[in-house]
Amino acid sequence: MPSFDQLTLDTPRIHMRPLCMDDAPAILRMRSNPEVMRYMTTGPWTDIAQATGMVERDQAALQKGDLVRLGMIRKDDNVFLGSCILFHFDEGCRRAEIGYDMDAAYWGQGYMQEALTALLDYGFDQLNLNRVEADIHPDNEGSAKILERLSFIREGYLRERWIIEGQVSDSALYGLLRKDWQARLPPLRSPV
Ligand SMILES: CC(C)(COP(=O)(O)OP(=O)(O)OC[C@H]1O[C@@H](n2cnc3c(N)ncnc32)[C@H](O)[C@@H]1OP(=O)(O)O)[C@@H](O)C(=O)NCCC(=O)NCCS
Repeated sequence: MPSFDQLTLDTPRIHMRPLCMDDAPAILRMRSNPEVMRYMTTGPWTDIAQATGMVERDQAALQKGDLVRLGMIRKDDNVFLGSCILFHFDEGCRRAEIGYDMDAAYWGQGYMQEALTALLDYGFDQLNLNRVEADIHPDNEGSAKILERLSFIREGYLRERWIIEGQVSDSALYGLLRKDWQARLPPLRSPV
C-alpha cells in the first residue's frame, strides 16, 4: 500500500486528514466517554498519553501504508468530530477492515455516513479494494445501522470472539463488495 500520511478527503461538511498531536485532547474527550467505548475493544480512556500514543503510532503506520485513519474535522468551525479507518489490509485479496468512532456530541447528524462514504469511495476507487469488512458487537445498533445504510451485508456471527477486561463478547461480521458499492452509486458520467 502507498503512504497515507499526506492523504486528505473532503465531503460537503467534513475535511478528513491524518490525526495530529493537536487532536489529542479531543480524542481523549471522545474516548473517555463510556457510551462511545461501550462496544469498543478497550474500556474508556483516562490518560492523554493514550491519545498522544495513538497519534504517534498512526503517523508511523500511515507512512508505512499499514492503515488509513483520518480525523474528521467539521468545515464550519474546525471541530474534531471523530475518526474513521481502513486497516488490516490484505493486498493479495484486495481486502480491508473498516472502523469508526465519533464524539457522542455529534451523533445523529449523518456525519459518519458522510465520512465513511468518502473513505469507501477512496478504498474502492483509489486502493482498488474488492471487499471491506466490519466486525462489530452484535448489540451495537448504531454501528449496525450505519453499515446497513452503506449497503454492508451481515454475513456471519462469531461466538466469544473477544475477551475485553474479562468480558467475553460475540461478533457480528459485515461485508461490502466493490460490485455492491458500485451498484449503489449513480453513474459517474452520462453514457456518450
Ligand atoms: C457508530 C456511530 C459513529 C454512529 O453514529 P451516528 O450519529 O448514528 O451516525 P451518522 O453520523 O451517520 O448519523 C446517522 C443518524 O443521523 C441522522 N441524520 C440526521 N441528519 C442526517 C443527514 N444530513 N444525513 C444522514 N443522516 C442524518 C440519521 O437519520 C441517523 O439517525 P438514526 O440512526 O436515528 O436513523 C456512533 O454511534 C459511535 O461513534 N459509536 C461509538 C463508537 C463505535 O461503537 N464505533 C463502532 C465500533 S464497530
